[in-house]
Amino acid sequence: MPCPKLHPPPEKLQCFEYGFRHVESHAGKSGLPSRPPRALIRGMHPPASVFRPASVFAAAMLAGVASRALAADELFADFEGADYGQWVVTGNAFGTGPAKGTLANQQSVGGFRGNGFVDSYAGGDASTGTLTSPSFRVSKPFLNFLVGGGAHEGKTCVNVVVDGRVVRSATGRDDETLSMATLDLAEFVGKDARIRIVDDDTGGWGHVNADHFVFSDTAATPPVFTVIPDASRLYDETWRPQFHFTARENWLNDPNGLVALDGEYHLFFQHNPEGREWGNMTWGHAVSTDLFHWKQLGHALYPDRWGTMFSGSAVIDRHNTSGFGKPGQPPMVALYTAAGGSSEESKGRPFTQCLAYSLDKGRTWTKYGGNPVVPNVGEGDRDPKVFWHEPTHRWVMPLYVGENEAGADGKKKTRNRLHIYTSPDLKTWSFASKFAEDLYECPGLVRLRGSRGPADWMLWGASGEYWVGTFDGREFKATTPKLRGDHGANAYASQAYDDLPDHRVILVPWMNGGKYPGMPFNQQMGVPVTLELRDTPEGPRVRKWPVKELDGLDSGGPLLAKASRSTTETASALAGLDLETNDIRLELPSDRDWMIQLRGLPIEWVHNGGKLRVRGREAVLAQKGPTVSLRLVLDRTSLETFANDGLVQFSDCFLPPPNNRRMKLEMPDSKGARVSCEVRALRSAWRP
Ligand code: FRU
Repeated sequence: MPCPKLHPPPEKLQCFEYGFRHVESHAGKSGLPSRPPRALIRGMHPPASVFRPASVFAAAMLAGVASRALAADELFADFEGADYGQWVVTGNAFGTGPAKGTLANQQSVGGFRGNGFVDSYAGGDASTGTLTSPSFRVSKPFLNFLVGGGAHEGKTCVNVVVDGRVVRSATGRDDETLSMATLDLAEFVGKDARIRIVDDDTGGWGHVNADHFVFSDTAATPPVFTVIPDASRLYDETWRPQFHFTARENWLNDPNGLVALDGEYHLFFQHNPEGREWGNMTWGHAVSTDLFHWKQLGHALYPDRWGTMFSGSAVIDRHNTSGFGKPGQPPMVALYTAAGGSSEESKGRPFTQCLAYSLDKGRTWTKYGGNPVVPNVGEGDRDPKVFWHEPTHRWVMPLYVGENEAGADGKKKTRNRLHIYTSPDLKTWSFASKFAEDLYECPGLVRLRGSRGPADWMLWGASGEYWVGTFDGREFKATTPKLRGDHGANAYASQAYDDLPDHRVILVPWMNGGKYPGMPFNQQMGVPVTLELRDTPEGPRVRKWPVKELDGLDSGGPLLAKASRSTTETASALAGLDLETNDIRLELPSDRDWMIQLRGLPIEWVHNGGKLRVRGREAVLAQKGPTVSLRLVLDRTSLETFANDGLVQFSDCFLPPPNNRRMKLEMPDSKGARVSCEVRALRSAWRP
């Protein structure tokens, strides 16, 4: 890694790196929160800004910019070196290092400090790119700097990015003279941020100039509050689900650490703070009191030298078995996979299982000094889902393990297995058993209510496949064959709340693979459903049903009240409805074919063979009666279909045609048929 050309000088950065290790290795004892090494995601050295003001001041002296006025300020970057040091360049607009004066064919540039400054005119106005600072912790309320060049909002600008979101932005003024600008960062003090200089414009004034970034207690000019493009539509963008969870910005996948404490549900989630595609896995965090109105908080777990933060779980250690708690304050403990080798920082390390704990309701986390708590045992071991087993007084950890075997052709073959580990204290784990059948990723194991008999445990894998069986605290034995948990195209990597005060077991899937063109976020969670066992003639089956809190989004009475109608009456009642976010219940005859088109998405019944098809995917409804009951939960980009009182579910993402907000019912042979239908409109969970 080349030495940075920033202030403070390189040797201080080495000190910082030492400082980071120091923090982590003492975390278990001292209770120091783990500091997010965001810069390490890209394999860079940690941020310059973690230096105490004294060293920054010393650096400023070295740079020859110290003065009385700057004494209390922190100079972050002055671009006096030959290259950009730790700042990361993309595209070709910023050249290979700071400009030392006006560039070829550029009008005369003035107003910069010292000899060097940032100029994205390398390659002329047509070139584009970004220049991103290392991560720093905001410690002062104002960022003062010099900016010049184009006045294109969001296109030729200096942005401050917090949690992957552009929170402040300033442009030039179509002027080559750099002038002072101030961004007010007061509300982000204590958070990690980056400065990103953006040139995303190829026309006239398609470049930006910048220099001399200083953190200060005073604003050098009245702070700029540029409107961030579409900020006014945040959570109401065209394809933003209105009651399914999405990250405010960027990529999301598996739900993690589902746990509740003091009336608050926690939803941690796989998140890429840096972009809209999978990568840089970090635990995002949101809280809610009703599983629909979520408030996204700062990230919980950031990548470290053990790897990026893959999926895992969280528990409330009520008996303080781990010793991390304090009197009257049980710790929240997360067990997660550190994906060794998935980042520059963790190069050469394998996947391991690690622990972190929080004493402030998940707001800040301390990584355990004794990590990893489960060493690597196979290929890509991951996704520990820990729970307390009262009868054996042990913690139990189902874990996915890829077992390498020699295939028939002699080549290495990986078998997808479930291992179960147990622990008295969450820190020391012993191998207990392996499940007989194959299972891939994100295992879940819970005891469900609703069935008679001891076989009331459910085990599942990421694709939703599940088994019902017995569990004695060490070993799960299936009493059913492998069953299909979801018949739709998108449910994946579900995790359950399994330690709730009201004893409900609530499952939340990730809706893997939805499309959200042009949106600031990517991917959504599924609607939370309660799990119960039902004894059916075919054996025990899991029933899934949207949690009752969904009813709380009812916008005030049904759009169409439940009543038994003829098909013609139903079709004409439906024709007048405008549908976008709805809860729809239907009872339709099972003795003839019909088709519903909901915003163009087909839901078909083929009475011969009892087949229900949603978007071409099929489930055979085992229990046949005179009617087929359907519940359709519609959001802007998804439809969840529950049939047979929740014994069959389809989770699907789709992009409905904007001009089709209708539901149509077609029944070729409708003579004498009765249809019961109730339609409710659901309010957005993002609006107050
Ligand atoms: C499932 C999964 C997990 C892994 C995580 C990484 O979607 O592959 O096995 O922990 O995603 O983001």
